[in-house]
Amino acid sequence: MKKVESEKVKKFSYLCGANFFTFSLFHFFTLFAFVFFTLLRETFLSRMKTILTTSTAEAADFIRRGGIVAFPTETVYGLGANIFDQRAIAKVFTAKQRPNDNPLIAHVGNLDQIKLLVSEITPNAQKFIEAFFPAPLTLILPKAEKVPPVATANLQTIGVRMPKNDRALEFLRACETPVVAPSANLSGKPSPTTWQAVYEDLNGRIDCILQGATTEIGLESTVVDCTSSVPLILRAGAITLEQLQTIEPKTRIYQVPKSQQPKSPGLRHRHYSPQAKVVLISSKFKVQSSKSSSFIGLNKLNEKFELVKICVSVDEYAHELFNFFRECDRKNIKTIYCETVEEAGIGLALMDRLKRASDD
Ligand code: TXA
Ligand code: MG
Repeated sequence: MKKVESEKVKKFSYLCGANFFTFSLFHFFTLFAFVFFTLLRETFLSRMKTILTTSTAEAADFIRRGGIVAFPTETVYGLGANIFDQRAIAKVFTAKQRPNDNPLIAHVGNLDQIKLLVSEITPNAQKFIEAFFPAPLTLILPKAEKVPPVATANLQTIGVRMPKNDRALEFLRACETPVVAPSANLSGKPSPTTWQAVYEDLNGRIDCILQGATTEIGLESTVVDCTSSVPLILRAGAITLEQLQTIEPKTRIYQVPKSQQPKSPGLRHRHYSPQAKVVLISSKFKVQSSKSSSFIGLNKLNEKFELVKICVSVDEYAHELFNFFRECDRKNIKTIYCETVEEAGIGLALMDRLKRASDD
């Protein structure tokens, strides 16, 4: 009797063991198949052929057919999609790996298109449009009903800008619609100032790159919130505080309140950063230069660096910064020393990007 019992126990534990083995094997294969197909999709299926063209008509055709296109502006290259095409806008977020709580700005090829985007042009915005547009200036206004929420990350406001660049304007006019366009880089990387930098980040992830020259300014547009009677600069750029104050003296720089979320969601995200560590220094400062360090600034230092860029003006410094960051990453530089400048004129925008790049 006892023998029969122990046989039963043996059989039972054998079956349990076998079941456990089959169960684990099944899960192992399911996991393996999942990882394999995810990798396959990332490597092959999500890659598309990116067309390089110098034809604004060809590039605009992609936008009209629901595609996404990188194009030059006077500030940095943008990654455009038809603002009324939600699927195309979703592709922009995916291609850039951009958090979807970060709103996009709308680009227009003529002033009449602004009315399609906003429910009201406030008096301050009207003054800035008349004084500056087309310009490296983005105005935040209450958005029109029919702008899809995905474009503005569910905000009730929208950023509007008319770029001051002939190729950008020719392209936008050929699109026959306002175009949303964040900078055409992978999220978190420095904005691209050449089409080659766009290619480096987004080849295989977007439909087309409209090739053009290196951008004239090199830093992104000034963003000004015009929804209230005091215009607030949310992001400094080439249109300076001083210039804006000549038109509306009440204009101020927005300070993020310590206890609150910033007005511009973009201020929450890491920006403009090379892989290397960015260290800000004044020209009188002694630095520990090494083979894998570089320097960019206005004054020549005595130390030896692997890569050095001395700029003749703050304008040139602003123009060169993002390109220099990318060059340092290509050369595997570990530390980039950047000379600080006075926070006036475009120096304010330059220092803003330098401080953000040096944030840990
Ligand atoms: O120069 C530029 O502005 C370039 C070129 C391509 O035009 N574009 C650009 O886009 O820099 P992006 O997305 O990289 O930066 C736009 C900034 C972000 O920080 C975003 O959070 C902010 O503007 N922004 C956009 N819409 C906003 C809104 N409705 N309210 C507050 N901030 C907004
Ligand atoms: Mg950007």
